[in-house]
Amino acid sequence: MSEQREQWQSTAGFVMAAIGSAVGLGNIWRFSYITYENGGGAFLVPYILALFIVGIPLLLLEFGIGHYMKASAPLSMFRIDRRFQWVGWWAVGFTMFGILIYYCVVIAWCLNFIVFSLYQPWQDLAGGANAFFFGQFLGAQDAGGSLHGPFELTGPRLTVVISLALVWAINGVVVGRGLRAGVEPVIRVFIPLLFVLMIGLVVWSLFLPGAGQGLSWYLHPDWSKLADWRVWVAAITQIFFTLSLGFGIMIAYASYLPERSNITRNALITAFADSFFAIFAGVAVFATLGFMAQAKGMPVSEVVTSGIGLAFVSYPKVISELPFLSSLFGVVFFTALAIAGLSSSISLIQAFVSALSDKYRINRGKAVGTLCTIGFLLGLVFTTGAGISWLDIVDHFMTSYGLVLVGLLEALIVGWVFGGERLGAHIEEAGEFRFSAHYGTFMRLLMTGALALTWFGLHQTGGGLGPFLARLFVLLSIAGVWLQRSWLDYSLKIIIPVVLLGLIDRSLAQEFAAPYGGYSATAVVGIGAGWLFVTLIVAVVIDLHSWRAGEGRRG
Ligand code: PHE
Repeated sequence: MSEQREQWQSTAGFVMAAIGSAVGLGNIWRFSYITYENGGGAFLVPYILALFIVGIPLLLLEFGIGHYMKASAPLSMFRIDRRFQWVGWWAVGFTMFGILIYYCVVIAWCLNFIVFSLYQPWQDLAGGANAFFFGQFLGAQDAGGSLHGPFELTGPRLTVVISLALVWAINGVVVGRGLRAGVEPVIRVFIPLLFVLMIGLVVWSLFLPGAGQGLSWYLHPDWSKLADWRVWVAAITQIFFTLSLGFGIMIAYASYLPERSNITRNALITAFADSFFAIFAGVAVFATLGFMAQAKGMPVSEVVTSGIGLAFVSYPKVISELPFLSSLFGVVFFTALAIAGLSSSISLIQAFVSALSDKYRINRGKAVGTLCTIGFLLGLVFTTGAGISWLDIVDHFMTSYGLVLVGLLEALIVGWVFGGERLGAHIEEAGEFRFSAHYGTFMRLLMTGALALTWFGLHQTGGGLGPFLARLFVLLSIAGVWLQRSWLDYSLKIIIPVVLLGLIDRSLAQEFAAPYGGYSATAVVGIGAGWLFVTLIVAVVIDLHSWRAGEGRRG
């Protein structure tokens, strides 16, 4: 089987595809509202620390294991130890049938907004862009203007349904053609185009009057924010989401690499390109918000809609305020978002199909067609009037628990069972390049810097047993990073598990303090936790179903 496994045409194709998966709605739409909600520029600090402490090591893990096993996530896990196949199925399962389902709905909104930008229908509407997005477009508001609850499923919105069908059709055609004939060539057009569009937007936004006001708000770090656990939780979960970690995507993508591959370099390029893109896109978003604040004579904090609507409410407002070529600005912005989103959705479907074909004899075209049809049908619930609450709840649970739990399991399984040192050795060997000499020191320095900053941050949280233990752990970690032979091993075995367990503990504490987002407990537990639980059961069932003849023995 591994003889026939497809391969990337070139390393550049792989790196672009990995960047294409990483750079998505998460970098523009999600990053900007999460940054906004977590204190603007202050958020960049925990975000970058999370990148170094959790993001890069896990990316190395996913690339390294996929490359070593030449297999998708479930088969890779199975080959580490036959008990762990379900972890891989759960990863590709809840992301494909959870995250991707609403994700494609957001891409669909972008397609709609490309068209709306041309005639800006929110202009003459009482209530403006806000009423347009939540009311007229999504049908998510009742007569009094408040949002529908999660159980008020009013009919699907036809405009969204049509563009959703288009999104799934594009997904299906691209992935259906296979890695070399579909995914790779499409990504090679999408990614450069995306960067060009983004550069255009950033330059444009910087010339708007008031841009500086928005930027200074964006880039001004408020260190006291580091004392708030919620900011850390948001930063780490955002890193998971934005680097496509815990989805099984990076494992599958790396499985198509040739024997000789510089995994370290590719992981660093992917991680830096992704964060750079997010921070860069943030410049465009916040500069334009600054422009609007000035135009309206209000502070930045008052012109912004927080949450999911930021890109779809604040941006349209900005578009209408622009002195010239305003439609073009909107078209470019929403096209960039749609392209970023599509290159991510494609990666996940590819990862799922790869998992399926590692286990079952499938006909690719039929499998992709069926998957995309199911994806479209499940997506319909997010096109109803209750869709936006569903989206909020599902996103919260999938990201805060699903991705993080998969990351924790991966770190433990690879760290302790497969062996972190062994992974490091494989990465070195495949890239014909030694960790210990340059990269090891580099990573140790980066991790030390990140941990030291974390220590200072924790220092501000004051007394109590929790912060004390956290500080102690940080100090021990710094020692460990230097004393251990393999920093990667140490990071997978100890640092990442402790950080992620702490994160899950904090998130759960918040969950019990009050139901997420002010929704009813039934909705939160039923929709959010229920979704994760059902996909977990399905993963276990698939696990119990044995491999096709011969495959199991290769474990
Ligand atoms: N990394 C992607 C992003 O930031 C997350 C994602 C990947 C979502 C694949 C869906 C499918 O948007």
